Formats: sequence, structure tokens, C-alpha cells
Amino acid sequence: MENSFIIKGGKLLKGAITLSGAKNVALKVIIAALLLDQEVTLKNIPRINDVHELLHLIGSLGAKAEFAAEHTVVVDGRTLRLNRVDLLHAAKIRVSFMLFAPLLYKFSLCYVPNPGGCRIGARPIDRIVEGMKKLGITIEYDSDTGYYQAQMKTKPAGFYRFPKITHTGTELLIMLSVFGRDKIILENTALEPEIDELVRFLNLAGAKIQKNGKKIFITPVEKLILNQPFEIITDRNEAITFAVLAVATKGEVTISSITPENIQSFLQKMKEVGAGVEVLGKTLIRFYYKGPLRSSQIHTQPHPGFMTDWQPNWAVLMTQAKGDSLIYERVFENRFSYVEELRKLGADIDFVKVPVINPAEYFFFNFNPNKKYNQAIKIRGPQKLHGGALSIADLRAGATLIIAALIAEGESVVNGVSILERGYENFVQKVTSLGGDIKKI
Ligand code: EPU
Repeated sequence: MENSFIIKGGKLLKGAITLSGAKNVALKVIIAALLLDQEVTLKNIPRINDVHELLHLIGSLGAKAEFAAEHTVVVDGRTLRLNRVDLLHAAKIRVSFMLFAPLLYKFSLCYVPNPGGCRIGARPIDRIVEGMKKLGITIEYDSDTGYYQAQMKTKPAGFYRFPKITHTGTELLIMLSVFGRDKIILENTALEPEIDELVRFLNLAGAKIQKNGKKIFITPVEKLILNQPFEIITDRNEAITFAVLAVATKGEVTISSITPENIQSFLQKMKEVGAGVEVLGKTLIRFYYKGPLRSSQIHTQPHPGFMTDWQPNWAVLMTQAKGDSLIYERVFENRFSYVEELRKLGADIDFVKVPVINPAEYFFFNFNPNKKYNQAIKIRGPQKLHGGALSIADLRAGATLIIAALIAEGESVVNGVSILERGYENFVQKVTSLGGDIKKI
């Protein structure tokens, strides 16, 4: 199977990109659509590997979830007939654990394996399990089988305050709460715009979910009904990748459609380092190279901070900036898989120890004082990169290595591109349309 790209770097990339639908909205809304007793039509679903995996997984449970047109998926949860999620399928896609919501409402009892997903840290679901228990769901993990058994004896109700923020945790508890037996309040919830989109979908179908900052109030309803197709917003992570690509190759790109507020912290950083940013309309932004870049410091954070998903791409940009840049990863405990690979191209990057006063609070993962972490890197620039043979270990690292290969002099081979294709649609075509020399082999 073709699973590599061959890239000839060193070209200035220029043009326009129309973003695909957001992976991290599409996956959750497809699962949420299983809560309705009807066919649900979803538009602007990206044709990416994670979506294909999820549709396959849902199909294996007996429900309908399939592409009806290029970017239209039809979901029908009425035929769900299995309450046990297959380990093999689930291991391939992290959001599989969100199936707890439709399965519990359908069967009261279900079995879901410990989730898979990108290798970017331990990624436990302890806060989510705790939250489910607080809402009245019985849930136990069987370490022999690797499965959680969950039971909903009475419909959920109550209050849960997340000890630390979790994006998909917030989303799952929202889904589990829509048909509760009484009002549910969630506190210290995540603020990502992707969550707002899930809430928009559920509310359009009749749910009663209100957000007030990090507090969410859910008034139960009996049934969800949606009489119109729902359109998925575009992918802001893809926007960041193409913005960085254009500026790193000293070119320019006009990106549509992207809401500037959703990437505000990125726009600020781009301006700070001397990249050109021009907001041309409500959902149109031009990014361009306008002269030597300055170094920067990044501390990743949940929204509205600088997202963890963006730091790998940012690291390549900083190899082209003058001076020492620092990136502190606060959200995941293993999101620097690309460092070793970038070094192969001549990047001057080192892990650095940065003392943190209260690590248990500073980091968003569950900090263990007995464990050794590598959470910060220093990038010395500007550095001329050369071609090399690279391997992708996780999704965002994948885009990072390709950006690096596109700015490097000479030829590179990037292996493991099916990981990139978990989250980026038509990547080769899009890069080619900007003038990049990239082929799948
Ligand atoms: N965490 C726990 N226990 C929990 C839940 C989370 O320790 O019960 C930890 C995680 O391991 C992580 C931190 O808390 O260290 C934050 O995790 P969070 O739950 O917020 O992340 P996620 O829901 O697993 C989603 C996106 C990620 C994105 C993050 C941050 C999806 C499918 N995934 O992950 O997207 O980086 O939120 O916004 O929505 C990607 O698209 O490449 C990707 C990894």
C-alpha cells in the first residue's frame, strides 16, 4: 500500500486553500447523531481516515453511518443492535469511548474498550469516568479484557466539576446529559469552539444546553428531532498548517473559510514573530511572508490559548526564525515525536528543563512527580534544512514533517502518511495547488 510521500523542497508556496470540515467536530457529531431516532444528514464531513474508521465502527454495531455524497454522511441509530464495541476497531480511533452515550441510552448496559488514538501520551480517561459516576452511571474497568462496563440504571442527573479541563470529556458528559432525569450542571468545562458546535447540533435538535463560560447547564428533554441537515464547520487545525506552510516557504496563502476568533492566539503569535496576517473578511485570512521572522515563546493551553495541536507546526516555523525559540507543552505528555525527525533535516533543537513552580497545576495531564518528562524544547534559528528520510508518529507531527520537507533543500521521503490522512483531507492536492512538489508513493 502506498504509505509515503516523496517531496522536493525549497519552493515558495502560493495560492488559496479552501478548508475541509473539522475532524474534531465531525467525529463527535456523527456519534451524537446516534442519539436521534431518525436519519440525520450531516454535511461537510471530511473524507479522512478517522471518519472512515468511525463509520466502519458504527456500521459494525448495526447502525447506519455512511457517505451519501462526496461530503455528506447519513446516520441512523435506530438499528443499533450491539452493545459491545469491538476492540480492534476501537483501538484505531480515540473517540470510540464517546459511544458510551448512544449505547447507554439504547441498551442501559454497554462494553467499551479503553480508547486508542494518536500516541501523544498516556491519555487516560479517569476524569471522564469519574464524571460518569457522579451523574449516576455505574462504570468499571476490567484490566483482564481491557473493557469498561457501564450501566445506566436510572437516567443521569447531578453535578460534576472536572478537576482539570478535558475537551472530549466535556463533550461526552454533555451527550450523556441531554436525556437526564433532572437538571445537570458541569463545571470547569473546556471551551474549544468544536464543543460549541456539538452543542449547536444538539440544541438544533431540541436539546436544552446552556453555556456560561466554563459552566454548562443541561435541562433534560425526552427526544431529539432534527428536520434539517447539519453542516460541520471548517477545520482550524488545517488552517494553521497551511498558514505555517505558506510563511515558512516565504510564500503566501489565502485561507477560507476560517473564523479569526477561533484562532486568535495563533494570529497574535504570527504577528509577534513578524509574519504577515491580513483579515480580508469575516471568514477569509491571508498569511504571507514579509521579512525575517523573530523567535518566540509558546506555552500550549486549552482554548482560547495557543493550542497543543499547533505547536508541532510552529516548531518548524521557528527553525526559520532568528534567535532561540521555546515551546512548552502543557497539555499532552508526549507531543514532541517530531523533534528527532526534524534533527535529521539539520534542525537545531534540544529538550530543555524548565523549572515549573507547581507542575501539578501547570500541566493539564495528570502530573506524576516520580516520572521523567520532556515538556520543553529550544529551537535555534534560522537553520537551513536539508532533505532526509522521515517517519510520522502522530497526526500533527505528520503535517510538521511535511512542512519541514517542503522548506528543506533537496528531496525527502516521509513514511507513515496514513497517520497524516487520519486528519487531513486531500493533502497532496492542496499542497500541489500551492506549487509544492509532493507525490504519494
Ligand atoms: N486527560 C486525563 N484524564 C482524562 C481526560 C484527559 O488525564 O480523563 C488528560 C489527557 O491525557 C491530556 C489532557 O488531559 O493530557 C487534555 O486532554 P483532553 O481530554 O482535553 O484532550 P482530548 O479530548 O483527548 C482533544 C482533541 C485533540 C486535541 C485536544 C486539545 C479530539 C478527538 N481530540 O483531545 O486533538 O489536541 O482535545 O484540544 O477532539 C488532534 O486532532 O490531533 C488531537 C489530538
